[in-house]
Amino acid sequence: MPTHYHPRHRRASRPAIALAGPDPLTYGGAMGWYDWFAPMYDGSLEALYADARARAADALELAGATRVLDLPVGTGQSLGPILARASEGATVVGADLSRGMLAQAARRVRAQGWESRVELVQSDVHALEVGGYDRLHVFLGLTAFPRYEEAFARLWDGLTPGGRAVVVDVYAARPGFQGKMVNLVARADITRRAWEPLERVARGYERVALPPNAKYGGELWLASGDKPT
Ligand SMILES: C[S@@+](CC[C@H](N)C(=O)[O-])C[C@H]1O[C@@H](n2cnc3c(N)ncnc32)[C@H](O)[C@@H]1O
Repeated sequence: MPTHYHPRHRRASRPAIALAGPDPLTYGGAMGWYDWFAPMYDGSLEALYADARARAADALELAGATRVLDLPVGTGQSLGPILARASEGATVVGADLSRGMLAQAARRVRAQGWESRVELVQSDVHALEVGGYDRLHVFLGLTAFPRYEEAFARLWDGLTPGGRAVVVDVYAARPGFQGKMVNLVARADITRRAWEPLERVARGYERVALPPNAKYGGELWLASGDKPT
């Protein structure tokens, strides 16, 4: 069963990872991989995406935001850029399916003293019951989820009208060697045109290419738009 988030969920003094995890019968595969990879994830990737995370956090236009959903939160690499731009009263819900990735995120939250501003939730995006957020941040998620169009529709559903979404991901129509490595290491499919679900529904939709780096394995793009009121 997915973890059910409730808006009045108690804010724990330590970052909370709800103990009720996903169905053990469906937990495995890519998640087993991410659990294993989690302790190495920051060392491998934190520097590579740092500038893009700052761009994504800027694009969220966080002034006035009250609740941000960051899914997949992974090890929490985007939390710093988001919290730095959000008001003190704003909270971030960081959700991910991998217990290993969430454990790293929890360490980060404790080390930075963000306990009162971040809640960590274990959930499959396809069973997510979080709602009522006015900013949606999906960084390197839509190419990794099993069914990205369905996942996006669910995430969009929980965004309040007038809220804003920012999606960052990698695209290569025909991945070369590095793209294939990225697909393998991230359990991803970077041939997905993962910006299209947002493009179809957002007002003020924009998509920009971020500065290239051969290590991405394709074009790193950032798409943004608002949910009509
Ligand atoms: C490439 S990592 C990106 C993590 C983080 N957003 C970042 O930018 O570092 C992909 C993440 O998607 C998560 N993930 C994959 N499938 C998922 C699912 N069905 N539901 C929730 N999270 C999922 C993985 O656990 C992993 O943390």
